Amino acid sequence: MQSCRLGVVFLFSFITFAVAGSYDYKDALQKSLLFYQAQRSGKLPADQKVTWRHDSALNDKGEKGEDLTGGYFDAGDFVKFGFPMAYTTTVLSWGLLDHHKGYQAAGSVDECLKAIKWATDYFIKCHVSEYEYYGQVGSGNADHAYWGRPEDMTMARPAYKITPSKPGTDLAAETAAALAAASMVFRSSNASYADLLLKHAKQMYDFGYKYRGLVSDSITDSKCCYVSTHYEDELVWGAAWLYRATNDSTYLKYVDGLWDTFKGMYGFDWDQKFGGAVVLLANLTGDSKYTTAITNFCNYVFQQAPKTSKGLIFIVNWGPLRYAINMAYVCLRAADIGINTESYRTEAKKQIDYALGDAGRSYVVGFGNNPPTHAHHRAASCPDAPAVCNMDTYHGSQPNVHVLYGGMVGGPNKSDIFTDDRTDYQHTEVGCDYNACFQSMLARLVELGY
Ligand SMILES: *[C@@H]1O[C@H](CO)[C@@H](O)[C@H](O)[C@H]1NC(C)=O
Ligand SMILES: *[C@@H]1O[C@H](CO)[C@@H](O)[C@H](O)[C@H]1NC(C)=O
Ligand SMILES: *[C@@H]1O[C@H](CO)[C@@H](O)[C@H](O)[C@H]1NC(C)=O
Ligand SMILES: *[C@@H]1O[C@H](CO)[C@@H](O)[C@H](O)[C@H]1NC(C)=O
Repeated sequence: MQSCRLGVVFLFSFITFAVAGSYDYKDALQKSLLFYQAQRSGKLPADQKVTWRHDSALNDKGEKGEDLTGGYFDAGDFVKFGFPMAYTTTVLSWGLLDHHKGYQAAGSVDECLKAIKWATDYFIKCHVSEYEYYGQVGSGNADHAYWGRPEDMTMARPAYKITPSKPGTDLAAETAAALAAASMVFRSSNASYADLLLKHAKQMYDFGYKYRGLVSDSITDSKCCYVSTHYEDELVWGAAWLYRATNDSTYLKYVDGLWDTFKGMYGFDWDQKFGGAVVLLANLTGDSKYTTAITNFCNYVFQQAPKTSKGLIFIVNWGPLRYAINMAYVCLRAADIGINTESYRTEAKKQIDYALGDAGRSYVVGFGNNPPTHAHHRAASCPDAPAVCNMDTYHGSQPNVHVLYGGMVGGPNKSDIFTDDRTDYQHTEVGCDYNACFQSMLARLVELGY
């Protein structure tokens, strides 16, 4: 600082900055874990904190009567889509594994373990034999025609599986990634559970590798909502996680074999695994082809990708916050391995701060200034039984009866404008996948002392 006057200017800009971009990341992290509790399907435990939710979907079963209860409802609806659920679980496990100190500081280690186990116990149930895996329970159209409480559902909930003749490489390899990452999370607290997870992870990877196809071509009911584009990226991501969990170099050979197809891909979300996989591989191998790939990726994201005038990375109009924060998290991890650390941390933080309030309002239910009150979410909108809840509830202008703490909504449109309207599901819906990188990123920011 060169003069007193400059010092004052700096001080003022610091104060402005501190007010605009300073949020209680621990509180947001704890609330995000409550959001996952609100998404729980099946028999709820005695320590359930979101008490407006009760047991539901207790008859979910496979073709031979296999128990398929548990897992998570996908978003504002009640379908259990295995593919985004697996991606969510991989990212939550990645966060707890690598940001354990952040979770400790927030007092949330146990709660996060429970959130992960809620999914992994379900995945194990769905893996009914070596080459048979239930990847969806509930039918998109029938489910979406219903507006009510999950506890009261009466529609048929068919279960759909992948098999050698109906393969789902992307689903199988993402599930392998989730189980492998979770095995490392549980290794210190329960080695036999970790071994069980790893056994299923290896089998699921083998299933996906041997029998190739896209899950949305085999479980066609999922085309309503999740049309997958490639499976090579999941094969790379799954192999990277299995390599991290086992040190078995066979998995790196698989990655090498897929690299030519994979290297032209992009993105990080339930469908695209590029960004996450290259930063993970860069860390595991130190190979310059991965460090170059993640550097190019993050430079594009922060310097060239479309942004709103208030600074949100805007990739698509449907759920833009989730994409922005996915990119931000992956690049925060690139910062962790020494790639443009200062600038990537600064830029990544701007994206999550946008969601927490920097654009003038919060986009996280029950958090901060003027949060959304009309999230597109059936359960939160419905008064407690026996009150009526139906399409009139959906279309009504009244706020949701229950506060869906921690649910991050889709976000604003390209003009930074948000209408808090339950029927505008592209902007007001929440989703298990939306909160995944959000939560892991919060854990990293807490760990960094931000
Ligand atoms: C890289 O690996 C180390 C050791 O397993 C881990 O602590 C760190 O969080 C990892 N970073 C990323 C970006 O995966
Ligand atoms: C450890 O995991 C095994 C296998 O899932 C389970 O049977 C056992 O109850 C777990 N132990 C503890 C202490 O949670
Ligand atoms: C893999 O190898 C590294 C380096 O030798 C070691 O630190 C790590 O514990 C090993 N991981 C597993 C799962 O064996
Ligand atoms: C955003 O929403 C506002 C209010 O509905 C509308 O006026 C504006 O045109 C929208 N912007 C874009 C880019 O769609």
